[in-house]
Amino acid sequence: MHNLLKSFYKFRARFFMKLYNGFRRRIGGLMSYSISVRNVNTYQARPDDIFIVTYPKSGTTWLQNILVQIQTQGKAEFETIADASPTLESSMIELDQFPSPRFIKTHLKDEQLPADIPKIIYVSRHGLDVSRSFYFHHRKLLGFNGSFEEFYDHFIQGKVAYGSWAEHVASFSNNPKGRDILHLRFEDMKADLEGTIRKICEFTGQSLPEEAMAEVLHKCSFEYMKSHPEKFDLTYIHARVFNIRMGNFIRQGDSGDWKGKLNEKQLEAYRDLFDKNLASKGLDDYQE
Ligand code: PPS
Repeated sequence: MHNLLKSFYKFRARFFMKLYNGFRRRIGGLMSYSISVRNVNTYQARPDDIFIVTYPKSGTTWLQNILVQIQTQGKAEFETIADASPTLESSMIELDQFPSPRFIKTHLKDEQLPADIPKIIYVSRHGLDVSRSFYFHHRKLLGFNGSFEEFYDHFIQGKVAYGSWAEHVASFSNNPKGRDILHLRFEDMKADLEGTIRKICEFTGQSLPEEAMAEVLHKCSFEYMKSHPEKFDLTYIHARVFNIRMGNFIRQGDSGDWKGKLNEKQLEAYRDLFDKNLASKGLDDYQE
């Protein structure tokens, strides 16, 4: 994209984000997350579009980076990941400004997404790990000041940004519209990133020469991403327009952070949620 045009779009994005943030601060609270439907309504599918669909905190930024690095054989240069992979519901830069293949991130639910998306990669993560990670996200980015206990109650009831974790995961696992979906798990990405990259290439049709694999693995490692917050940390990225504390978006990237941090009543609530939405869906690893 021409540099002048890029600067104009960035300036416009910042202006609108400032307006939006002022409004968000005024209404405050857990649910104050507005979703712009503009890009959803104007979406024009391209045959090589890949959608990265997740409930928040499930490995979205990681998968965005993986797709971009595969595409460039580990040589991707971008100021922030949002410049290389837009978010459907909040990108202020029109999606048609992005070159193909587009890697479009979204946290929207199945029924909110355009019907003609060619391919989706859906990443899920254990709900209790998501609850911990999302708590820190709400505190840093969404103006929530309460305790984890308070947040957890809202999370279990689905009264947080993007609604219920269990319903989100269930809707894509059911896949009522017969979409072309590759299902990945955060836990498997951690256990075998190279195998995950091969699976992704098979699904997307991207090719990655063997000699470029090491560089892609390096650029997608937790250590690399954590040490480049200016590229991957939403708190750094938003701090340019929002008045918020920066850092620690790429927090610890672990599985099982919840262990020992929830009481029996909280675990019982999770069991109920799981049984109601996710029993017999092949997701038993996500039981408590
Ligand atoms: S968001 O806000 O929904 O886009 O967040 P999302 O990117 O989905 O999830 C953020 C969590 O992913 C972890 N992460 C990683 N873990 C392991 N390896 C790599 N490379 C990696 N990159 C991001 C990040 O640390 C967040 O998890 P927590 O548990 O908070 O550390």
